[in-house]
Parts: sequence; structure tokens; C-alpha cells
Amino acid sequence: MPKIDPRDRLIVALDVPDLASAEAMVSRLGDSVTFYKVGMELAYSGGLSFVRRLADAGKKVFLDLKLHDIPNTVEKATAQVADLGASFLTVHAFPQTMKAAVKGRGAGSLKILAVTVMTSYDDADLVEAGYALGVKDLVERRARQAHAIGVDGLILSPEEVSAMRALLGPDITLITPGIRPSGSAAGDQKRIMTPANAIEAGADYLVIGRPVTQAEDPKASAEAIIAEIRSVAG
Ligand code: C5P
Repeated sequence: MPKIDPRDRLIVALDVPDLASAEAMVSRLGDSVTFYKVGMELAYSGGLSFVRRLADAGKKVFLDLKLHDIPNTVEKATAQVADLGASFLTVHAFPQTMKAAVKGRGAGSLKILAVTVMTSYDDADLVEAGYALGVKDLVERRARQAHAIGVDGLILSPEEVSAMRALLGPDITLITPGIRPSGSAAGDQKRIMTPANAIEAGADYLVIGRPVTQAEDPKASAEAIIAEIRSVAG
């Protein structure tokens, strides 16, 4: 895997309710942040045209839409996202869905990321939904399938990163939320890791929202995180 610039390893989650707030945050962060995550909330409130504008302005965009539908629909939707200029797109880690997304992205630069099992699910939730496997086994099964299908990366919780890196090797892109620089509030995140620890565990990219966007000085907070990443991955 080519070396990633430490600055590009920070993906700031634009979890804001409207376009005006997103634009204000991006302009406040300026050159400090090169990569943004746009999730469903913002995507459904005008965020898709914003993705194109961000890409045109030279930013990278992670579009977190968690696609899951019949293969034909996933393939065509993925091709549209590739045309928007996004760099990363999430899909649920069902084999049909992953294969269709890989087909839809073609040979362009869009990377497909699979969400294995959402962290809101525990073993009891999987039983209720009709699954025979527990979370740990289902994450591993889907991660192996994703790799075999040619998915580019996985979204994982910080504590899953080192095992997945060992299981799947260096070629898969691993991305983790649940990151908290030491001293910042955990909020509703339960299993957290510092930026340096997550990178050392094998993460390629960190998705960080509130520690940057709700900081008194978001730009300074982003720069401090990048410095911490650089200290272990320079
Ligand atoms: O503000 P915070 O740093 O907790 O934001 C983390 C981002 O990562 C949010 O956009 C959240 O939806 C996302 N995420 C997460 N945990 C997951 C999957 C996604 O925190 N398991």
C-alpha cells in the first residue's frame, strides 16, 4: 500500500444538520483538513452537490451512505457516486452488495468500504435478526468475504483493527471511528482509542467528528491530531 500523508489520514466527520454549517466548518478548517466524511443526514439535506463542490475544491470525500439493495441498483448507484468525485463509499458487507459495488466503481479512483457488522449490534441483536453467528464470527466472515471480492477497505472499531490487519494483510484499507485524542470527551463512544494507538494498531485512516468540530478551535484540534498521527506514522 503506498504511504499515506499523515494529514490525509484524518477524515473529519461533518455530522452537521445543514449545508451552511458544513460549509462554515470546512472554511474554518481551511488547509488543515483534506478529507471529509459526509453521512446520510447531510447527504439528504443537499449534501450530494456539496460532495461535488468539495471534490472540485481539491478535498477528498468519504460518502457514508451504507448502500444495500439488489445488485443492479447498487452497481448503478455506485457508478453515480464515482461520478460525483467521492473517494470512499460505504456499503453493507453482504456478498451480492459488495460484488455489485466493486463492479459499479469500475477502474476509477473511488474506493469501496464495507461495514461488516454495525457496532450498535450485539450477539442478541444478531439472533433476533435471524443470524446463526455472533458478532465476532460474523465480522471475521464478512471481512474475509470483502477481501476475496476485491473490496478496498473496511470500517472497524479501533479494537478490531489489529486482528483484521493480521488476518487480511497490508493491502486492505482499514478505517476506524471511535477515536479520542487524550483529554477529549468520549461522548457516546464506548470503546475509544487515541489517534497514535489506532495508527500503531494498523489503521490507515481515522474518522473523527466532535473532537474537531466541537472544539473551541477546530483548526488547532485538527493540527494537534495530525501531529500525533505524524509522530507515529511520519
Ligand atoms: O464525533 P465522533 O468522533 O464520535 O464521530 C465519529 C463518526 O464516525 C460519526 O460520523 C459516526 O457516525 C461514525 N461512526 C461511529 N461508529 C461506528 C460507525 C460510524 O462513530 N461504528
